[in-house]
Amino acid sequence: CVPVPEEVDVFKVPHLRMKELVNDYFEMLQTTNFSNVVDVQLLLDTLFRTFVEFKSHEQIENRFIMKQLRTKLKALSINNTAVCNCHKDSRLKDILQLLQDGLNKKTIADRINYGLQLKTSLEDFAKVFLPHMEEEEEVFQPLLQQVFSYEELCELRHRVIEQHLLL
Ligand code: FEO
Repeated sequence: CVPVPEEVDVFKVPHLRMKELVNDYFEMLQTTNFSNVVDVQLLLDTLFRTFVEFKSHEQIENRFIMKQLRTKLKALSINNTAVCNCHKDSRLKDILQLLQDGLNKKTIADRINYGLQLKTSLEDFAKVFLPHMEEEEEVFQPLLQQVFSYEELCELRHRVIEQHLLL
């Protein structure tokens, strides 16, 4: 595939951060002792911050990329349903609810069972989230380059990165 010039790549910088967060949570999961209440609390605090950041990433993309892209495609009479549906099934709400549930596990057995459930859910989430980011980089980025001017994309990228820095 053709390399994307850095200055118009709206996904690369935020996605590096998102991928780093996924790696971090897998590392933390491996070292968490679920029988220890303090360990579990620390993990949950980190995961809450992580998933709120994923949610914000999605909202920034919806507001600053997908909305503009939809408007542009409509103006050019190009029909692309993938743009409308790309964040429809992100499972972020379910994970945030699962993290909330983890706060109420009082016994060691409950926490260990919860740990297994959490691990499966986080693995499932990553199995969807990582390819989703790939799709944005490999499908939406070229589409953006097709319909926006160089200047428009530089501006778009600037705004997207600026919004992420506020997180
Ligand atoms: Fe960049 Fe929609 O995750």
